[in-house]
Amino acid sequence: SSSKILIKGGTVVNAHHQEIADVYVENGIIVAVKPNIKVGDDVTVLDATGKYVMPGGIDPHTHLAMEFMGTETIDDFFSGQAAALAGGTTMHIDFVIPVNGSLSAGFKAYERKAESSCMDYGFHMAITKWDEVVAEEMEIMVKEKGINSFKFFMAYKGSLMINDELLLEGFKRCKSFGALAMVHAENGDAVFEGQKRMIELGITGPEGHALSRPPMLEGEATSRAIRLASFVNVPLYVVHVMSIDAMEEIAKARKSGQRVIGEPVVSGLILDDSGLWAPDFVTAAKYVMSPPIRASGHNKALQAALSSGVLQLVGTDHCAFTSTQKSFGIDDFRKIPNGVNGIEERMHLVWHTMVESGKISLTDYVRLTSTECARIFNIYPRKGAILAGSDADIIILNPNSSFEITARSHHSRLDTNVFEGMKGKGKVEVTIAGGRIVWENDQLKVVPGSGKYIEMPPFSYLFDGIEKAEAKYLSSLHAPVKRFNSAT
Ligand code: URP
Ligand code: ZN
Ligand code: ZN
Ligand code: ZN
Repeated sequence: SSSKILIKGGTVVNAHHQEIADVYVENGIIVAVKPNIKVGDDVTVLDATGKYVMPGGIDPHTHLAMEFMGTETIDDFFSGQAAALAGGTTMHIDFVIPVNGSLSAGFKAYERKAESSCMDYGFHMAITKWDEVVAEEMEIMVKEKGINSFKFFMAYKGSLMINDELLLEGFKRCKSFGALAMVHAENGDAVFEGQKRMIELGITGPEGHALSRPPMLEGEATSRAIRLASFVNVPLYVVHVMSIDAMEEIAKARKSGQRVIGEPVVSGLILDDSGLWAPDFVTAAKYVMSPPIRASGHNKALQAALSSGVLQLVGTDHCAFTSTQKSFGIDDFRKIPNGVNGIEERMHLVWHTMVESGKISLTDYVRLTSTECARIFNIYPRKGAILAGSDADIIILNPNSSFEITARSHHSRLDTNVFEGMKGKGKVEVTIAGGRIVWENDQLKVVPGSGKYIEMPPFSYLFDGIEKAEAKYLSSLHAPVKRFNSAT
């Protein structure tokens, strides 16, 4: 039966260590990692000689079955996860969108959407408005529902955007529960102004989307979020870092010792805008996402920032809209649903761009695609490691066989692919999720309902010592300095 699996002779790569060893799996759990494991004949044996055995990818940023901009993403939990598994990702963290601002209603809706899951998943939650009910529901989400991260939108004026006052309130609430604050960092008011400018100039095509929200607006919001997080002393996670401007703000903050995490996504790491907006509406519209794909140079700088440790992990922001859905904005780029694919391509593209090119090591690859995500969201080493006792979410990657990306052959329901035609060496040949072989010989064997909800506990390592820093700040306020209002 396939509930017992032995992976023989591969190079087992973890974020902390690599060695040639066998991996033995029973009932969804890794039981042993050591050389020359002997087993009976009721065990499925996979030969991994000359190949890499690594923790399945964890995608920290996806939108499956998301209702957004008047439509719903074409990939739901089942199709998006099947695509993920075919590409070596075995867990993702999706963003619950509240229903009319209600977190509990949003959570219920996403519980339902996720019933068809064929791999493990967790949730972040977006905060889209603010009142006492929302503030109290945050606590319930953290203490009872397994959510330890909240995303605040500084963009999407008129729908998801919140102002600085609410951002600060949200940050403070996050700190009080040990939950991580995440930001979509673009200046939404300035984007609104940029969009008006484009329309006035008669630029209504997809290029207007990019021109209306230049890197400086991402840099400004990233800087503001970082400074506000510092002001109230909370760790901060910046999602989809797309520009040098944003990356440099993160670099500066980290250099000063601030706890800031930066997440680039594969589209931003790999693509640039050369030739993107030229051909025709449908071809161009598929690249529309926020923040937008930048000019050449930003992608290379983000890759370098990953190598040097300025950025810590890679996501996708998988948010799939078909050509028909993208065509809602044929006369006005502001109506093009924002989002691109990536959940299926991330593991191959990071391998190809970063490992094959010599920019990072094997252990770095595992850290950036899996382990660091598990650590940040406090589920390591259950996830993100090939260790005895960890969940059996494992990939076997053959460095000598090739991958090729096409909309024709991918497993997402999308009719397009922003990475169309990209190919290279290093292919995920086997994916094991929850102890099941779900991808082998280019065939998916996925079971709806087999994926589990992974609860994420609050207070990850990012919060260690935060109270000490807070106490130090408070005592500095009482230091014997002469103040205008103090009697001396
Ligand atoms: O264009 C994007 N990124 N769509 C998904 C929503 C978001 O902002 O992450
Ligand atoms: Zn070891
Ligand atoms: Zn976003
Ligand atoms: Zn997103």
